[in-house]
Amino acid sequence: MKLAPGGQPVDFSRGAAHVVAMIDARLAELRSEEQATLFDREAERARKAEETRKEATATLLKYSGVPDRYHGATLAGWQPQGDKEAIQKPKMIAWAAGVDMAGSASAVWIGPPGTGKTHLGCGLLRDRFQVGKDGYYTTAKGYTDRIKNSYRQDSPESSTDVLQRFASVPVLVIDEVGRQFEAKSEELYFFELINERYNKRRPTLFLSNLSDEEFRTFVGSAVMDRLKEGGGRFLPFNWESRRI
Ligand SMILES: Nc1ncnc2c1ncn2[C@@H]1O[C@H](COP(=O)(O)OP(=O)(O)O)[C@@H](O)[C@H]1O
Ligand SMILES: [Mg+2]
Repeated sequence: MKLAPGGQPVDFSRGAAHVVAMIDARLAELRSEEQATLFDREAERARKAEETRKEATATLLKYSGVPDRYHGATLAGWQPQGDKEAIQKPKMIAWAAGVDMAGSASAVWIGPPGTGKTHLGCGLLRDRFQVGKDGYYTTAKGYTDRIKNSYRQDSPESSTDVLQRFASVPVLVIDEVGRQFEAKSEELYFFELINERYNKRRPTLFLSNLSDEEFRTFVGSAVMDRLKEGGGRFLPFNWESRRI
């Protein structure tokens, strides 16, 4: 009988104790082989799940409006440099964590260029995509340009389609808020979007290079009241630029 370790024949002439020892050793061997197979299968399953998750994240990113250069950004994995960043990080994480709760407030991240507003705003979206949650990024101008293009005869979408698309996404990041609008109609569409999201109780993250005061003046009292009413948060990016 081939019951010795390695599937070798057992030498019966060496007595019962030897035979039993050989069989025990072989059984232990078989058990550990089985364990290894199970372990391999488990590892393979985990690898496939990770691959699927990566593909899903890549697909969500592709259609999220997040610019290519910020595709690798993450808010959760951000390593704050210095005390000022370290103080703000948990507040941003807390905002991101509460964003899917009913009636969650909007937020405003403001500060000088290069401080990482776009990086972390896009990072917040990517962190969501990794757990299968949706979100969208646009600049204020990107949105008004899309509205403008919707008036073209060959446009596949109407201005109402555009408005509804931007209004219905669970989290919308609007970057570069504060640039002057080129036309009154653009301004109206911008405020209609904010209003529509407010009515739908969907949070918006505003990113801006303006100062606190300038931002308030730019969006006006109607928007400020809405932000305040929802408990909206102003988070200053009051540290050095990361651009060298
Ligand atoms: N927390 C961070 N970790 C890694 N890189 C960062 C971080 N914040 C900013 N950067 C990088 O610094 C540069 C400026 O950041 P950016 O987000 O564009 O600034 P802002 O939008 O405030 O003008 C970008 O290249 C960005 O990727
Ligand atoms: Mg920016």
